[in-house]
Amino acid sequence: MTSVDFIVIGSGIAGLTAARELSHGGETLLISKGALGEGATQVAQGGIAAAMRKDDSPTFHYADTIRAGAGLCDPEAVRILVEEGPLRVRELIELGAIFDRVDGELDFTREAAHGQRRILHVGDATGREIGRTLGTVLQSEGKVKLLSHAMVVDLMMDNGRCVGCWVLQDGEILGYQASAVILATGGCGQIFRYNTNPKGATGDGIALAYRAGAALQDMEFIQFHPTTFAKPGGTPDSRFLITEAVRGEGAVLRNDEGQRFMSRYHPDAELAPRDVVARSIFQEMQRTGAGQVWLDMREIPLDLAARFPTIYAKCKAEGLDIGKDLIPVAPAAHYMMGGVKTDVCGQTSIPGLYAGGEVACLGVHGANRLASNSLLDGLVYGYRIASALLRNAQMKLHPPRNVPFVPFANSAFSTNAELRLALQDAMWEWAGISRSGEGLARLVAQLSDWQVLCEPRGADPESCETQNMLQVGLLMAQAALARTESRGSHYREDFPLRDDEHWSRHQVIVRVFSVPSTGS
Ligand code: FAD
Ligand code: SIN
Repeated sequence: MTSVDFIVIGSGIAGLTAARELSHGGETLLISKGALGEGATQVAQGGIAAAMRKDDSPTFHYADTIRAGAGLCDPEAVRILVEEGPLRVRELIELGAIFDRVDGELDFTREAAHGQRRILHVGDATGREIGRTLGTVLQSEGKVKLLSHAMVVDLMMDNGRCVGCWVLQDGEILGYQASAVILATGGCGQIFRYNTNPKGATGDGIALAYRAGAALQDMEFIQFHPTTFAKPGGTPDSRFLITEAVRGEGAVLRNDEGQRFMSRYHPDAELAPRDVVARSIFQEMQRTGAGQVWLDMREIPLDLAARFPTIYAKCKAEGLDIGKDLIPVAPAAHYMMGGVKTDVCGQTSIPGLYAGGEVACLGVHGANRLASNSLLDGLVYGYRIASALLRNAQMKLHPPRNVPFVPFANSAFSTNAELRLALQDAMWEWAGISRSGEGLARLVAQLSDWQVLCEPRGADPESCETQNMLQVGLLMAQAALARTESRGSHYREDFPLRDDEHWSRHQVIVRVFSVPSTGS
């Protein structure tokens, strides 16, 4: 059994930031199931929000974030995000991140529901530059031990405390112990048929934490991005994100009849909050019977190939010129606001277990995340977890313990691939942009049946992922069924209004462990 001071699971912005800081105070192991840095951070497009312009201020950023969160943001968590954000971004620049500039000054773009231009960006590949910077620094410092292509399949628990994790590596399960384990495993968008997420976004961290008994929060709130490339007749795999920044720079949406429609739904039209734009597109698609609406970038007064090179190239590969052609788009699952409940130092309800980045839920995004606040969240809170841990003198290594690996019963499916597709379809159908009590009840029943039918887990990563996806999907469906109102990203056709009297609150879910019978 290998022992270190700290284990960080996940090498996106949250994991890289936390691991680097922790390595200044203790032996740190960074585990990721893909290559180092592979994840949502790597593909983030639009940018990172921070109130750094002379006429901006954290107070304005705070107000926009709280407004977008539809009554469920935690004010303290948001205050920390917007106040510490500029400092962390400046440090990132000092470490070597090269953000776009105009005449030597940082260039800020605009995205929906931000009152002003406050998004730092690197073309339309901001996450790649941030990941490159953090990864390069971490490797050149050489203090963090790296374990890539290794999947954490369970947390190691001892008397209610998290003391490490179990890792599936080259077909074997190996144990790693630490005084603190930090989950930075990203989101769960892959549980939906249409999504923007990388293949590894299967909700592992949420499922691991839930199985270990950690409290989860806001599981019903998943954000749908309004604009993913949606070629008529295209497969789910042909979808890719078209950054919101194009609307920030002046792109408009047209329905299948060629008409602009967003001003019928919201006074801010294309720059309305993300949940509003996604729902409006969905309604237009239903009204016209089309599988897409159209993004019109023709009037943007910029060199589009230079400003949005990723999108330009991807559309070109599909035979479309974004400067001349309308681009077919439709919404897709994008970002998980809910997750493992933590305080503002990343502490979960389990001693020894911490969470940061998209896997965590501390109320910073409420019921609907403001664009480009997620990278900032991973940066600010990844750092905070590490600095709080290093401040805590008690966090020195506990002596290694002999904890046996107990495979989780009712694990994966024999027909893993088919069930994954069925799950993705069912989630899209019944827990997608527009939900109803009837559909959600059917979904809960269906997913519960599939869980009962599971067979014990084999030692292959895909089965473990599918098991995690099923667990997360079921928890999301149950939480969405229980919330009988519409708020932020959660829209119920049967309860279309926001109900502050009953629902200005979070739902917290904790697994109930059955007590083994002692017999008599
Ligand atoms: P990730 O970057 O997703 O990293 C997760 C890590 O966990 C990976 O290393 C993965 O291998 C590892 N992992 C997962 N499960 C396991 C396991 N069981 N065992 C071991 N390792 C595991 N946000 C913004 O603020 N601005 C943007 O412009 C923006 N654009 C986006 C564009 C796209 C296409 C997408 C998908 C998201 C975008 N987001 C954006 C959201 C943002 O990118 C993510 O929320 C953020 O990067 C998440 O960072 P993270 O560190 O929490 O996780
Ligand atoms: C985008 O570039 O549109 C995504 C930004 C985000 O998810 O914050």
